[in-house]
Amino acid sequence: MSRVLIIGAGGVGRVVTHKCAQLPDVFSDIWLASRTVSKCEQIASEIASKVSDNRIKTAQVDADNVPELVALIRKIKPKMIINVALPYQDLTIMDACLESGIHYLDTANYEPLDEAKFEYSWQWAYQERFKAAGITALLGSGFDPGVTNVFTAYALKHHFDQIDTIDILDCNAGDHGYAFATNFNPEINIREVTANGRYFENGQWIETQPMAVSRLFDFPQIGPRKMFLLYHEEMESLARHIPGVKRMRFWMTFSESYLKHLEVFQNIGLDSIEPIEFQGQQIVPLQFLKALLPDPATLGPRTKGKTNIGCIIKGTKDNKPVSRYIYNVSDHEVCFKETNAQGVSYTTGVPAMIGAKMMLEEKWSGAGVWNMEQFDPDPFMADLKQYGLPWNDVECDIDIDGLPTE
Ligand SMILES: NC(=O)c1ccc[n+]([C@@H]2O[C@H](COP(=O)([O-])OP(=O)(O)OC[C@H]3O[C@@H](n4cnc5c(N)ncnc54)[C@H](OP(=O)(O)O)[C@@H]3O)[C@@H](O)[C@H]2O)c1
Repeated sequence: MSRVLIIGAGGVGRVVTHKCAQLPDVFSDIWLASRTVSKCEQIASEIASKVSDNRIKTAQVDADNVPELVALIRKIKPKMIINVALPYQDLTIMDACLESGIHYLDTANYEPLDEAKFEYSWQWAYQERFKAAGITALLGSGFDPGVTNVFTAYALKHHFDQIDTIDILDCNAGDHGYAFATNFNPEINIREVTANGRYFENGQWIETQPMAVSRLFDFPQIGPRKMFLLYHEEMESLARHIPGVKRMRFWMTFSESYLKHLEVFQNIGLDSIEPIEFQGQQIVPLQFLKALLPDPATLGPRTKGKTNIGCIIKGTKDNKPVSRYIYNVSDHEVCFKETNAQGVSYTTGVPAMIGAKMMLEEKWSGAGVWNMEQFDPDPFMADLKQYGLPWNDVECDIDIDGLPTE
C-alpha cells in the first residue's frame, strides 16, 4: 500500500496524477493537493472518466505554509510527496517532509521568489537533516533536469570510462498558434531564459550574455532549429557527480516569434521582478505579464509538433574516442490524447512518476538528498521505454562548435 501526495495541480501535476493512476499496484492511493482545489477536482474527474475508478482524493493546501502542510500530511499519512508546485515551495515542502518523516521528490531546484537565482545549495544543505531523519529527497526528477541526468549516468555506465564533454539539447518544435506563450509556468520560464548564459569548462563556470551564443542543429524527426546556450540546473549536479568532465553546455531552441516578443517585454521592463507602484498598489511586472499570457495548462488541445531532448556525450572507452547521442522524441498531440496535457508537461510528469516509482519500489533508496545521476540508471531507463518516453541511443560524430550560427 503506497499512498502518495502530489502537490501542484498545474500542467505537470495533471500528467503525474494521470500516470500514477495508471499504476494502481505501485500508487495504490493518490492524493492531489494545490492552492486551488477546483483544479485538483477537475483533474480527478478527468481521470475517473478514463480509469473507471475514483481513486484520486483532493485537498486544498498553501505549500508556502509549513504547519498547513504538516497538518495535511498527518491527516492523510502518505509515504512520500511528489512536489510539482513551483520552485518557490521546495524548501517549505522539504521542511514539512522532515517534520513528518516522509520522502520527498521534485522536478526543479529551489529559487527564491525575490531573486532570479536557482542553484542546489539551498537543498543540498538539507543533506544531514534528511540522513538523520532516515528519509530520501530525490531532486530534479523531470526531463531536464531529470532524464538528462539519467541519460548521462547511463552513458557513463555502458559506453564510457571517461566522459569529457556533455551537450544537452532541448528542442520544443510544438506550435500552439499563439504569437507568444510559454509551455510551462511563464514566470519561471522567462526568469530562466533572460538570465545570463553559463557553461562549465575545465572546472570553471563561464558566463555569456543572454542568448548570445547560438547554433543551427538538425534535430532528429524535427529538422534544423536554432538553439541558444543557456544555464540549466542539471549542469551543477553533473559537475559534482561526473568525475573529470571537462565541458558541459545546455542549449534550447526558441521560435523567431517567441524571441521577438521577449525582446519587446524586456525593452519595456515587463520581465522585471522588481515591484512597481501602479494605481496605489505594488505590482510585480513579470507577475502582471503572467496574468496576461495564456495559461500553459490550456495549450494542450492547440499544440501540434514534437519535442526532442537529449545529450550528446563524448569521451573515451578503452582509450578509444566514443561519442553518443541519447534522446527522446515526443509528440504533443499523442501526449495530449493520453493525459490532456501538452508535451512539455508530459515529458516532465512521466519522469516524476518514474522517480516516485523507483523510490516506492526501493530500487532507488537511501537516507539523504540525492540527484538523479547518483542512482543506477538502468531501471529508470527501462521504465522510460515502458511508460511513454522511449529513447534512442546512437553513435554521433557531430561537432557542435563547427555548426553554423544561423
Ligand atoms: N525538470 C523539468 O524538466 C521541468 C520542466 C517543466 C517544468 N518543471 C517544473 O515543474 C513544476 C510545475 O510546473 P507547471 O508547468 O505544472 O507549473 P504550473 O502549471 O504553473 O503549476 C504549478 C501549480 O502549483 C500550484 N502552486 C503554486 N504555488 C502554490 C502554493 N503556494 N501552494 C500550493 N500550490 C501551489 C499552482 O496552484 P494554483 O493553480 O492553484 O495557483 C499550480 O497548480 C515547476 O516547478 C516547474 O519549474 C520542470
